[in-house]
Amino acid sequence: MENQVQQKKTIFSGIQPSGTLTIGNYIGALRNFALLQDDYNCIYCVVDMHAITVRQDAAQLRKRCLEVAATYMACGLDPKKNIIYCQSHVSGHAELSWILNCFTYMGELQRMTQYKDKAAKHADNINAGLFTYPVLMAADILLYQADLVPIGADQKQHLELTRDIAQRFNGVYGDVFTVPEGYFGKIGSRIMSLQEPTRKMSKSDPDDCYIAILDPEDAIRRKIKRAVTDSDGEIRFDPENKPGVSNLLSIIAAMSNSSIEETVSKLQGQGYGSLKNYCTEVVLDTLRPIQAEHAKLMADKAYLQSVLMENAERANAIATRTLRKVQKKIGFAERIKK
Ligand code: TRP
Repeated sequence: MENQVQQKKTIFSGIQPSGTLTIGNYIGALRNFALLQDDYNCIYCVVDMHAITVRQDAAQLRKRCLEVAATYMACGLDPKKNIIYCQSHVSGHAELSWILNCFTYMGELQRMTQYKDKAAKHADNINAGLFTYPVLMAADILLYQADLVPIGADQKQHLELTRDIAQRFNGVYGDVFTVPEGYFGKIGSRIMSLQEPTRKMSKSDPDDCYIAILDPEDAIRRKIKRAVTDSDGEIRFDPENKPGVSNLLSIIAAMSNSSIEETVSKLQGQGYGSLKNYCTEVVLDTLRPIQAEHAKLMADKAYLQSVLMENAERANAIATRTLRKVQKKIGFAERIKK
């Protein structure tokens, strides 16, 4: 049993508690995570320390950390099988991050496109944390000796840097860190903006571009009704020429666990009104039980907080093992037990 547990690969993922999770996150990541929980050691970290690289309202941030954790659990992730916790509850993230800062070059960080984008967007607050954000991310991953990291295309550069830092460190001190690889879900599940269907659905776009997992029913009905389609009137899957219609078909297929072909043949010959109605119903059917479970969890904060504390302790045990090894390798004075 013990052996079996150790042979499982480790998956680590970080989720920002800034903003709300969308059905794009659900289809591309969350719903697949539930399928991994028996075969991998999965660690899901709510990265509140990353979130403060841009200004956050304290009360909002506090609430969103719980909300993200509750959403993960409501999507079927068992907090006993997975580790779901807040980054700031495990001090090893900050400690390893400092050490790795000393193994990362300014030039490497200056090349990061997310840093350049965010610096342009938050020109009034280009703080050092924004600059060293990728190092904290590397610390997150390397602390847990993660084998696989599920990421979107926008985080590939950060994962590459993580691998470079790990290899650099290992080159000096021996095999301390597992060098992680990206884990990319099934293709074909990229969900696009409802208003600009050639762009990825993003929570940072205006409200009517995305459907949040926690959106109320009337908002979901309204947003799908107003989703951009085209004027040829034919239901056909053709992302190049019919991005809006194809996106709705993708959403239906994903939410009803069917293929695009099945979805198209079911709706062929009907109008866009039917397409949208059907899409609305499958989205609502999928989200209803998740929202109910989420509400239940949020109503019992004491339980949710106890889960997070318990999980932080489990995370801490793993993180501390790596951290002590690193500290010893670089020559920090030993901690002598009395
Ligand atoms: N930077 C990631 C994002 O914005 C979040 C993140 C932080 C992360 N630490 C991580 C993702 C570790 C994967 C692994 O999406």
